Amino acid sequence: EDPRIHGIKTKIRVVPDFPKKGIMFQDITTVLLDPKAFKDTIDLFVERYRDKNISVVAGIEARGFLFGPPIALAIGAKFVPLRKPKKLPGETIFEEYELEYGNDRLEMHIGAVEAGDRALVVDDLIATGGTLCAAINLLERVGAEVVECACVIELPELKGRQRLKGKPLCMLVEYR
Ligand code: PRP
Ligand code: MG
Repeated sequence: EDPRIHGIKTKIRVVPDFPKKGIMFQDITTVLLDPKAFKDTIDLFVERYRDKNISVVAGIEARGFLFGPPIALAIGAKFVPLRKPKKLPGETIFEEYELEYGNDRLEMHIGAVEAGDRALVVDDLIATGGTLCAAINLLERVGAEVVECACVIELPELKGRQRLKGKPLCMLVEYR
């Protein structure tokens, strides 16, 4: 394991019973407070993807917006936000999904991603995998190839990986 990963892990704050009783919330805002841990997080992904011909980084609202854009800039890819309902002004397509707590939907601007684009999907965390699955579906519907999904944290007990339609997942920290 890369030695930088331990430092990142120590900066993730675990908040019990948020937003609901029984949920151990993985708070990455404390990683952002530490410039070294934040930079290490971005660097680890940039090192992995810089030579993979990624043409688009798709970031998932909201916490995927914190990590996706710096990765996109560093690897020279465009950034496309996948947003919660009714936030995007242009024509959109959408996918619905179930979350650990509730239902939601992701929308993407038509034309932002084109057939043949090579996509990296970025989010802070994978729990059930429903969110990433919706993102993959949006990208594939417009003809993009999803090369990989990247998350800072995986909750492996929820088996979210199994919902990624065979796409590889790269994560830095496991929380059991
Ligand atoms: C959280 C997290 C992931 C998603 C993971 O987002 O940031 O996007 O849940 O859950 P899943 O793997 O079970 O789908 P959330 O929708 O809570 O909100 P936020 O990112 O807007 O804060
Ligand atoms: Mg999220």
